[in-house]
Amino acid sequence: MSREIKRIGVLTSGGDAPGMNACVRAVVRTATNHGIECVGIRRGWSGLINSDFVPLNGNSVAHIINKGGTILYTARCAEFMNPEGRAKAINTCKLLGLDSIVAIGGDGTFRGALALSRQIAESGQKLSVVGVPATIDNDIGCSNYTIGFDSACNTAIEAIDKLRDTMQSHERCSVVEVMGRHAGFLALYVGISVGATAVLIPERELDFQNDVVEKIRRARLAGTTHFMIVVAEGVGKAYDIAKRIEEEVGIDPRVTVLGHIQRGGAPTARDRETASRMGYRAVQVLLEDTGNRVIGTRGGDILDIEMEEALNMVKPLQMYRYEVLENLTQGARFRT
Ligand code: F6P
Repeated sequence: MSREIKRIGVLTSGGDAPGMNACVRAVVRTATNHGIECVGIRRGWSGLINSDFVPLNGNSVAHIINKGGTILYTARCAEFMNPEGRAKAINTCKLLGLDSIVAIGGDGTFRGALALSRQIAESGQKLSVVGVPATIDNDIGCSNYTIGFDSACNTAIEAIDKLRDTMQSHERCSVVEVMGRHAGFLALYVGISVGATAVLIPERELDFQNDVVEKIRRARLAGTTHFMIVVAEGVGKAYDIAKRIEEEVGIDPRVTVLGHIQRGGAPTARDRETASRMGYRAVQVLLEDTGNRVIGTRGGDILDIEMEEALNMVKPLQMYRYEVLENLTQGARFRT
């Protein structure tokens, strides 16, 4: 199957992620090469409701592949979650003559995309929506990888490496909170990469004695005088963890909440390259006319999946990674 496309609307929605710009660029350049016009919808789904747009061409996306954030701005839009809001968005699509939408974002973006595509189908209009996964949380079920994750990991690692210098000098314990919403991908990858004493993730029920107290103790007995505890935000507040450490281990930890710094900065090579391939694929999918779909990765390859099916997919955290962490911690239980 293939179809003629006249005009694609492209938007970024939800929390921004490094590499979103690279993906916008890929969509616009690929579309332009096929003689398709592109309209940038600003501020996510709310831009579609409020007719907030900017025409884009090959030149307008020059020199953005290396930029963090998103030139299209982003937002979380409660109004889009109700049919009245989406009806306004559908009117904007009619007004601008959009026959396709590429929505770059995370889980909330895709739920909006699915709701929109259903409402469009009910109205009898012909418009396809393709989702591209971009979130530092890496928590999209249908895709091994989401744009922005690698950059966020690297930002967190750089910050924690710096923290380690001062923690080591003062022989302290550091409790670092990283983002990830309800998922522990970011925390675990970062924890392995910085050689954390312990990593607390929402996918694993917390046993404070074994997962924190004993780990600090064993590391101390093995000769370490500073400790790095990485806490995924989905587990709870780093300040509460630090307080418990103080009470139960008798040391005085310092808390760092990395926060939104993890979402900023130039995208890494992996994010630029993946975003470029995903954006390219999104336009190909529209040209193939296979309906509403979500782009993903599996084993390094780019694929696309029917939207409803994609949104029902789950991606459990691979717990062998946690085992790796446990085995490599200083004073690990498994050491002989
Ligand atoms: O989904 C990306 C993310 O950065 C999460 O890790 C975090 O929980 C959330 O967004 C923060 O959202 P906001 O930017 O609205 O504070």
